[in-house]
Amino acid sequence: MYNEKVLKEFMKPQNIGSIDNATTVAEVGSPQCGDMTKLYLKIENNIITDAKFQTFGCAAAIATSSVGTRMLIGKSTDEAKKITNKDIINELGGLPPAKIHCSVMFEEVMQKALENF
Ligand code: FES
Repeated sequence: MYNEKVLKEFMKPQNIGSIDNATTVAEVGSPQCGDMTKLYLKIENNIITDAKFQTFGCAAAIATSSVGTRMLIGKSTDEAKKITNKDIINELGGLPPAKIHCSVMFEEVMQKALENF
């Protein structure tokens, strides 16, 4: 049910883990499935220089977090605030409708981490 790009991202995800001296950290749970994602951001001079995640989510959550963290790195915090789950889904070439909420979880954790900053 997943496209090749999603499967590839799930099999070889990037940016899994934590950042010891993160500038901001946020954790969000999905009300739909009860899974959770935690996001760590390192921000220097308003630029996101590193992003790492940990998730108890499914393949779609891992793939969206992997792509999402890559999209965050190098962006200013203002640019990052404009990233939506739709941007991440587009980057992945689509997600099954039943898995959209998994990408929403990443959008929410990203927005929460940026708000906490
Ligand atoms: Fe829970 Fe995908 S994150 S089903």
